[in-house]
Amino acid sequence: MPVIPVPGRDHTWAALTPATAYVFGVESGDDTRVVQHYWGPRLPGAALGEVADAVPAWIATGFLDPADAAELLPVDGGRRWGVPSLQAVYPGGVRSVELAFDRAVQHGPDELELVLRDQVYGLCVGLRVRVHDDTDVIERWTEVANDSGEPVHLQRLDSGAWAVPEQAGFGYAGVAGGWARETQLHRGELPPGETTFTSRTGTTSHKANPWIMIGDASETGGEVWSVALAWSGSWRLTAQRRPEGDLAVTAGFGHEGLTWSLAPGGSLRTPSVLGLHTTGGYGAASRAWHAYARGHVLPTPAEERPVLYNSWEATGFDVSEDGQLALARRAAELGVELFVVDDGWFGTRTDDTRGLGDWWPNPDRFPQGLGKLFDGVRELGMQAGLWVEPEMVNPDSDLYREHPGWTLHYPGRRRDTMRHQLVLNFARDDVRAWALGWLDGLVAEYGLAYLKWDMNRSFSQAGWAEGGDLLWIEHTRGVYAVMDEVRARHPGLRIESCSGGGGRADFGILRRTDQVWTSDNTDARHRQTIQEGFSYLYPASAMSCWVTDSPNPISGREVPLRYRFHVAMAGTLGIGGDLARWSEQELAEARELVAAYKAVRPVVQHGELHRLTGSPGTSASAVQYTLGERVVVFAYNPYTLDERPPRRLRLAGLDPEALYEDEAGVRRHGAALMHHGLVVPSWSLSGTDYRSEMLVLQRVEGRS
Ligand code: DGJ
Repeated sequence: MPVIPVPGRDHTWAALTPATAYVFGVESGDDTRVVQHYWGPRLPGAALGEVADAVPAWIATGFLDPADAAELLPVDGGRRWGVPSLQAVYPGGVRSVELAFDRAVQHGPDELELVLRDQVYGLCVGLRVRVHDDTDVIERWTEVANDSGEPVHLQRLDSGAWAVPEQAGFGYAGVAGGWARETQLHRGELPPGETTFTSRTGTTSHKANPWIMIGDASETGGEVWSVALAWSGSWRLTAQRRPEGDLAVTAGFGHEGLTWSLAPGGSLRTPSVLGLHTTGGYGAASRAWHAYARGHVLPTPAEERPVLYNSWEATGFDVSEDGQLALARRAAELGVELFVVDDGWFGTRTDDTRGLGDWWPNPDRFPQGLGKLFDGVRELGMQAGLWVEPEMVNPDSDLYREHPGWTLHYPGRRRDTMRHQLVLNFARDDVRAWALGWLDGLVAEYGLAYLKWDMNRSFSQAGWAEGGDLLWIEHTRGVYAVMDEVRARHPGLRIESCSGGGGRADFGILRRTDQVWTSDNTDARHRQTIQEGFSYLYPASAMSCWVTDSPNPISGREVPLRYRFHVAMAGTLGIGGDLARWSEQELAEARELVAAYKAVRPVVQHGELHRLTGSPGTSASAVQYTLGERVVVFAYNPYTLDERPPRRLRLAGLDPEALYEDEAGVRRHGAALMHHGLVVPSWSLSGTDYRSEMLVLQRVEGRS
């Protein structure tokens, strides 16, 4: 799908996707603005010019410029009072950015660059718009260059702003949370004023996730405009709902208070901000995002993610060769395909106070290295994986004693530890070279198929003598660069993104990782709410879910094994319990459930998600995955009688004319399953808490 000039209109373009159009143009006058005219359902070609009209002039007053909220990159300058996407301070403290249109450059049919220039102060700004032929996601980013002889200080450089057409209520969906309660879904109405979602932690964060969906929509109906930022460091996304009736969303890296200095000749490129218009409610928006993730983000989307075992909840720091091999034997018997040794295998790391940074096998625990352990794992038929936390150091480590200057710090300021650790500065060439060296060595020496890349604290005292606040960008880029290079050197390697659970989940990290550790909270009931929020943007293949012990180590809640499995089976299944303590009966049930998962895995990991009904974790609920002819439904009933479950479950997205056969051989039409529904045994009124089931349907040949 191309970005084309709109016929009959000067300096006006339409970015066309399969189902949408995004029309924008340069309005030159005393103050050049690149204005969004339209973003919505695809229009006939001849109608593109009709939507490229000016904002109604009657909106203008002595206090408001009509185009204020509709610019692709509103600057801090001239007659603008909204949230700027670009804020610069020129020599002498001059603030008002005044851009003039320079030229439009087509980079192939699918990508356009509009070049703007501040003719007095030499700032050159490139606005990029790119589309693809298999998605309605529109990718945008901004590039700035300092063509002057003096430094320019940037106080904000967002990837871009998007205008959302007037809605009655400006409904929205987003997620917020904290450690062990990531991605809690929030739906409501955006209030008039400015609503900012942000992370100042140096990572995507547990508190918020860089996306918003806007629209007076339900799960199954209505238009939704989504904006997501593909970035894994600090970020901010502001939705401005103005009394005049319009709404703009601007999003970019960094947070307020940072200043990025651009030396003469210097340049900066933002991460991509992604815009997506969909019809069909929040559910359709999620499915479109998942398809985009598979088509344009994830490095290995066609693969099926293996069932993994991770030792963390079983052993904590108490890692030994014999203990791990004993767990590995049990895991292999269950059908596990990848065995991951977590924290505690290296340096002097026997608890969280020491050893981070010393990335060699603990000489007391593994005097001969990890070879025997991982050879044993492979002999059991599993791949080998290892936990690492490359961006961190304990002050009590050889690395810190040798390189105290490698951490984030300011002269004369404290270096506050969290979890007894400091952050290594991945903006530094020497730090990246060091990390790449030992990561490459470990993967090569032990034939690792998998790294769990963890990151367990937020930034503080984030000084970098050489680059100042650019640290907040360059650290993240440094992490990306090391991950990219390790993968390039080891094409078979897969990486899990972890940050104390789900603190680093976004479309930036997912370009170079295959899945995300969704949360340290493995309580099945809590997990349902976490997984629901995660599913708004990210596909099930990226959602790492473990079955752990009962009572749960965090919540103390007791939940039957089957329910725990069914919750984890709705994503990428893993097991994290202490298998040494599981009874024969539990192991047998687990074996059966792992096999059942493998049978439906392509459908769950690559299928289309429908969040069918209920509040996951707090009432009867169900999710459905559909891939080709196959349909898999997980139905849950956490609390008997707290709330009366629906009498029937109505499925979605089926072919109404086709017949679907369940595992008992019963055939029903898609139309009946969608409009009448089926009876879910675990939703019956009488029975224990935490009942669940997996229903599998197959579309069969016969038609009515
Ligand atoms: C935090 C992770 O989220 C856990 O799964 C575990 O890997 C610990 N770190 C290890 O320190």
